[in-house]
Amino acid sequence: MTWNGDEYQARFDRVASEGGDVHGEAVLVRSLEPASVLDAGCGTGRVAIELARHGVAVMGVDGDASMLATARRLAPGIAWLQRDLVGLDLGRLFDVVVMAGNVPLFTPRGTELGLVGGVGGHVRPGGRLVAGFSLGRGYGLDDYDAHCCAAGLVLEARYATWSRDPYAGGEYAVSVHCKP
Ligand SMILES: C[S@@+](CC[C@H](N)C(=O)[O-])C[C@H]1O[C@@H](n2cnc3c(N)ncnc32)[C@H](O)[C@@H]1O
Repeated sequence: MTWNGDEYQARFDRVASEGGDVHGEAVLVRSLEPASVLDAGCGTGRVAIELARHGVAVMGVDGDASMLATARRLAPGIAWLQRDLVGLDLGRLFDVVVMAGNVPLFTPRGTELGLVGGVGGHVRPGGRLVAGFSLGRGYGLDDYDAHCCAAGLVLEARYATWSRDPYAGGEYAVSVHCKP
């Protein structure tokens, strides 16, 4: 799948201009008090840019050139890398790796284990992988938890929203896995 970064970003700009909150993911990640964050599947950089605004050292990685072109236009000072997240190896670790915006639903079907292994391998010991995605679209929590387990990650918390509403089996989940 290819994206139009400017069109994608325009949707969030519209919500923000109407007073909507487009930074729920960043608020949750900031509550974990990370010094460094990898925004995995960063798209146009919505989460990374907001974290950087609050002093967090961020890096954004995405496979889509158009998404990254928009991210670079919006925040030229941030490190944006065009890479496949499947089997990713950046040679460094982060306090938090975040996958916001249904990233596992957009990796090619069958590559989810490699995706979670690739991003999960960048969590430092004691750090966390935070991911939110819709359920019932071909990739569910049993598979995701198994893939996290294979990446050495343990489920710490699960919410229904980025505002930490309790998860009770709904259509969306935000999962926090930690690296012991
Ligand atoms: C819906 S967008 C979310 C963008 C951003 N995280 C946000 O919340 O606004 C999903 C992104 O995941 C990226 N993505 C999914 N699978 C990927 C993979 N295997 N390698 C690199 N990027 C991937 C897509 O290119 C796309 O930019």
